[in-house]
Amino acid sequence: MLAVIGGTGMSELAAIEIIRRKGSETPLGAASSGVLHARLDGHELLFLARHGHPHKMPPHRINYRANLWALKQAGATRVVGVNAVGGIEAALSPGTMVIPDQLIDYTHDREATFFDGRFRPLQHIDFSWPYTETLRQDLSNAAADCGETVISGGVYGATQGPRLETAAEIARMTRDGCTLVGMTGMPEAVLARELGMEYACLALVVNPAAGVTEHEISMEEIHAVLEQGVERARRVIRALLEH
Ligand code: HPA
Repeated sequence: MLAVIGGTGMSELAAIEIIRRKGSETPLGAASSGVLHARLDGHELLFLARHGHPHKMPPHRINYRANLWALKQAGATRVVGVNAVGGIEAALSPGTMVIPDQLIDYTHDREATFFDGRFRPLQHIDFSWPYTETLRQDLSNAAADCGETVISGGVYGATQGPRLETAAEIARMTRDGCTLVGMTGMPEAVLARELGMEYACLALVVNPAAGVTEHEISMEEIHAVLEQGVERARRVIRALLEH
């Protein structure tokens, strides 16, 4: 069963028909919202609003463990995280969709594992390739099926937020090899891995990252790109369900 974690601009998935709404409580505290068991054009899926709905939970306060746990309990086997991101690489201009294949984690002080020696005994898991290749391919094929252009491959730098980065921080991330920057890609990806669920990220570039152009980052521009972008991401998800 496919689960979608909707990010900024996607606290709801347009045109879904809700079958059941589960509570948000888990042994790890409350998830951002209840998991929706829904149907999109006849195909079943699970949906969770990462920042809550309608409440807007900041990236560093999200209970990622509860979110992933709730999806696993609801029967998710593969998870697509939809994320609004800043474009670091110049070619990744606003409106571009990217399916990254690597990440670097710059977040801190987040509950980032189930294997903490309390909830679960300590285990060190392999994370060489943080995204599930088969799911990445399926997403990429789904995009092709519905005529949406996506760039396959990229390095997602996960920052702490909620503030945006400085130009120097983005310059450092560029040297590190990051091509995208967002605040919620981690620990989501690793927690999915720890629970044995496939995971891929569908990133929507909504602004050039700090210092990439000479302008400051405008929230108005971000919102304008989000509106159209989210609808395109939804089309890709719909095509993925048809695969
Ligand atoms: N930085 C971090 N997270 C983001 C950005 C950004 O520029 N845009 C959207 N999410």
